[in-house]
Amino acid sequence: ASAQTWSHRFDTALHPAIAQFNASIGFDMTLIEYDLTGSQAHAKMLAKTGIISPDEGETLVKGLETIRQDYRQGQFRPSIEAEDVHFAVERRLTELVGEVGKKLHTGRSRNDQVGTDIRLYLRDQIIRLRQQLKQLQAVLLSLAAQHIDTLIPGYTHLQRAQPLSLAHHLLAYFEMAQRDWERLGDVMARVNVSPLGCGALAGTTFPIDRHYTAELLGFGGLYANSLDGVSDRDFAIEFAAAASVIMVHLSRLGEEIILWASDEFGFVRLNDSCSTGSSIMPQKKNPDVPELVRGKTGRVFGHLQGLLTLMKGLPLAYNKDLQEDKEALFDTVATVQGCLEAMTLLLQQGIAFRPQRLQQAVSSDFSNATDVADYLAAKGVPFREAYDLVGQVVKTSLAAGKLLKDLSLEEWQQIHPAFEADIYDAIAPQQVVAARNSYGGTGFEQVRHALQVARRQLEQA
Ligand code: ARG
Repeated sequence: ASAQTWSHRFDTALHPAIAQFNASIGFDMTLIEYDLTGSQAHAKMLAKTGIISPDEGETLVKGLETIRQDYRQGQFRPSIEAEDVHFAVERRLTELVGEVGKKLHTGRSRNDQVGTDIRLYLRDQIIRLRQQLKQLQAVLLSLAAQHIDTLIPGYTHLQRAQPLSLAHHLLAYFEMAQRDWERLGDVMARVNVSPLGCGALAGTTFPIDRHYTAELLGFGGLYANSLDGVSDRDFAIEFAAAASVIMVHLSRLGEEIILWASDEFGFVRLNDSCSTGSSIMPQKKNPDVPELVRGKTGRVFGHLQGLLTLMKGLPLAYNKDLQEDKEALFDTVATVQGCLEAMTLLLQQGIAFRPQRLQQAVSSDFSNATDVADYLAAKGVPFREAYDLVGQVVKTSLAAGKLLKDLSLEEWQQIHPAFEADIYDAIAPQQVVAARNSYGGTGFEQVRHALQVARRQLEQA
C-alpha cells in the first residue's frame, strides 16, 4: 500500500514485506460481491438522507455495478497494493466515476463494512448448506425406502447387539441432518443482523439511516450497540460450531461406510465412480471419499477452536486480529460444502448394499438372545431370571458350535418348560426386528411411520 492509502499523516511507504503481511486482498476477494452490495445500500442511504445528492447516489450505485460486471468478466483483479477488498473497490470506483467516488465512505468505516460483508456472505452460504443438507436427507430417505426389509446387524461397543432394519439405521442419519438443518437456521437468526452504520466503533456524526440499509440488505434486525456491532464474531463461532457438528455426523457415517466396505464386514460394495485404486496393489478399491470426509473433519474443528481463541483476549472494539476470521470461515464453508456434496454422491451412486451378506450376517449370531429372554419374560418369568437362563444357553451353544435356532424343541424345554414351538418364529431375525414396535424402535411398522414423517419434513423444507 502506498503511504497515501490512509492519510497524510503517513510520510513513507509501508515496507513491502509488511504490506504483504498486512494485506487481506489475497483471500478477501471472496467477499467482493457482498462488499459491492453493501456499498450500494450505503450509497442509496446517503442519497436518501440527503448526505449526498440523488445524482451522486446514482453515480455511486452505477459505478459499483460496473465493478461487479467487470469482476464477473474477470476484468477486475486488484493487486496487493490495494490491501483489502474494501480499499480495492473504493479505489476502482474513484477511477471509474471520478471525485464523487471519494464520497462513498462518508459515515462508514471498514469495520462496519467488513462486518456487513461477512454476514451477507455467511447468509448465502448457510442457505446453500441447508439446501445441501436437504439433498443428503433426500438420498438417505430414498435409500431407506428401498431397504425397509433389509436387515443389518446393530452394534453396541462394535459388538453385535440386535438386528435392525437397514432403513432404521439410515434414518438415524436423516435425523442428524435434520438437526443440522435446524441448527443452521438458528445460527442464521444471529448472522442476519446488520452492523452497518456502527462506524469505526462509536457511530457517526452524519444523520444516517441504519434501518434503511438493514432493510435494503434484507437483514432481520440491527445491532443496538455500535461497539458490539463492529467487534462481535459470536455468529462466526456459532457457525463454525454448527459446521463442526455437521462434520461429526458426516465423519461417523463415513467411518461406518469404511467399515462396511471392508472384507471383514462386506456389507457394501464400492462402485467405481466414487472409489479409487492403489498404485501397487492391483486388487484394491479404496473408500477415499469417506476417509477424506473423516479427515477433513479435523480442519473444521480446528477452525472452531481457532475462532474461539482469536476472540478470547480482544479488547473492544475492532482489532486487526479480526482479519483472521476470514480464512477460517471460508475454509469451513468450502470444506463442509465439499464434504456434503461428496457424501451425497457416495450414497447416491458410490455404494451398493449387499443384501445376501447382510442376511447372512444377521442369521449367524446371537443377536436374538434378548428375544429369548423377552419370550420367557412375556410368559411370566421375571426378566432378570430369564436373562440369566439365556446367558447359560448362549454359553453352552457357543461351546457346542450351535446357534440358538439350531436347538431342538426338547432342548428348549429342558432349559425352561415355558418354551413352545413358536420360539423359532420369535428368534427369526425378521421377527426380532418386527417385534421392536415401541415408538421410535426398529419395528417395520415404526420404520414405515418414520419414513412418512421424514417425507413430510422434506416436503416442508
Ligand atoms: N481487512 C480488514 C479485515 O479483514 C478490514 C477491516 C479493516 N479495518 C481496520 N480498521 N483496519 O478485518
